[in-house]
Amino acid sequence: MNYQSQRVAKPYFIAALGLFVGQIVFGLIAGLQYLNGTFLFPALPFDVVHMSHTNLLIVWLLMAFMGAAYFIVPEEAQTELYSPKLALITFWVFLAAGAVTILSYLFVPYTQLAAMTGNAVLPTMGRGYLEQPLPIKVGIVLVALSLLFNVTMTLIKGRKTSINFILVGSLWGLALLFLPAFYFPQDTVKASFGWWWVVHGWVEGDWELILGALLGFILIKMTGVDREIIEKWIYIIVAMTLISGLVGIGHHYYYTGAPAYWIWLGSIFSALEPIPFMLLIAFSFKTLLQRRREYPNKAAMLWAMGTPIMAFLGAGLWGFMITLAPVQYYIHGTNFTAAHGHLAFFGAYAMIALAIISYAMPLLRGRIANSMVAQRWEMTGFWVMTTSMIGITLALTGAGIVTAFLQRAAEDPMGFMQVQDKARVFFWIREFFGASFFLGLLIYLRSFFFAGEYEYANEMKQALSK
Ligand code: HEM
Ligand code: HEM
Ligand SMILES: [Fe+2]
Repeated sequence: MNYQSQRVAKPYFIAALGLFVGQIVFGLIAGLQYLNGTFLFPALPFDVVHMSHTNLLIVWLLMAFMGAAYFIVPEEAQTELYSPKLALITFWVFLAAGAVTILSYLFVPYTQLAAMTGNAVLPTMGRGYLEQPLPIKVGIVLVALSLLFNVTMTLIKGRKTSINFILVGSLWGLALLFLPAFYFPQDTVKASFGWWWVVHGWVEGDWELILGALLGFILIKMTGVDREIIEKWIYIIVAMTLISGLVGIGHHYYYTGAPAYWIWLGSIFSALEPIPFMLLIAFSFKTLLQRRREYPNKAAMLWAMGTPIMAFLGAGLWGFMITLAPVQYYIHGTNFTAAHGHLAFFGAYAMIALAIISYAMPLLRGRIANSMVAQRWEMTGFWVMTTSMIGITLALTGAGIVTAFLQRAAEDPMGFMQVQDKARVFFWIREFFGASFFLGLLIYLRSFFFAGEYEYANEMKQALSK
């Protein structure tokens, strides 16, 4: 870390981790409600818990991406951030907006919230991930504009690197792709187009570019491999993402009332979407093999190497399994989709967020790496969370297959609730791995409190005396 203003990233990272804990608590409650339909009812109905779980996910990931931008852009541009003060104000505004949103979900019935916040004037509420009331959505746009202004001005006054161009460019894309959230016509076919442009445009387009830029940055820093080599990889990954992802969005138009040619276009192009994820794996491991130094932060290296593998499994493999039109005919909207959603979001975006936090936090706390004791806690957290997420994914995949066979493809289809009952064992397994995921998260968080100066100083002394 070379610039004072990079410090503004710290509150973003800390808040991201706090909100992550909240997300998982709601996940556990939602999982229990699958097992006991009246658990915490009517205080916390399932829809409210679900909405809180998914919205907290998006908010903590955005917090982490924003922190990453404030950390990386000045470093790459070799200059101080244009306005650290604005970045801090933006942080508090965003945190307050996130808190108000979740509290309003918890304490105000959703229809009443919609009536209170002007949804009748400009309807935007109700679609998954985009449930926020109108004033909050406007607030999100203002926060994004403030971030964009700050990092773009920094980019303009400093050194211009490819990593910075891709990062700042994809943050612009992130903000622009939020705008279809304000397009919610009565016609449900048209409305679902607008919804997919945000959700798919983010996770299978723009955020993949952010992922590439963040991974590229930390690998340059940790391996010492030439920037030119890494940048070439990132360009190819960006190109493949855009080629496959833009038309690949057609995999959401199959049986929705959109023109029938999307069955072909969506199937063919989305089948190419795993390619950029494969390239990410090849790129990271090649870079690791060519490394010029042993970076002392082993935990950050573990996150950086784990991310492309888990992203490929969750997005590439689990996405591919449900993407062809004839498969989706049977599997659409089952727990197979939720299996894919969990592994993809965790493997790609939660893990890259944790990778950059792992790399940057010790630097923000004035040391190159945490003590080995702390790193061991962190790496244990990595393994427990990662294997638990694989367990959650397999359980949901099982539940999805039960639905496909008993309800969708059966000669004599069973009713929805009967099928849910048949899949019950998988919901138990999901909850078991959910609890172990939570344990893994606590172990991970413990590493922050372990990073005592005392151990660190001792280890350095030992290393020096060798
Ligand atoms: C970083 C970790 C996690 C991520 C990224 C994540 C992500 C998601 C996403 C994207 C959805 C929406 C799925 C969809 O609509 O298809 C969801 C729903 C859900 N998640 Fe998680 N989740 C995580 C952890 C957990 C944990 C630990 C549990 C606990 C058991 C859990 C339980 C649930 C439940 C029960 C739902 C509702 C599924 C439904 O609508 O039927 N999640 N999660
Ligand atoms: C990291 C990247 C990705 C993330 C985070 C992600 C996440 C998600 C989530 C959360 C959903 C459920 C949306 C909902 O209905 O609530 C979904 C649906 C879907 N995803 Fe992905 N996805 C990613 C990449 C991919 C890729 C690369 C493919 C194809 C190869 C793919 C194929 C699909 C399909 C076909 C659906 C719709 C399933 C259905 O109709 O039920 N996804 N994705
Ligand atoms: Fe998609």
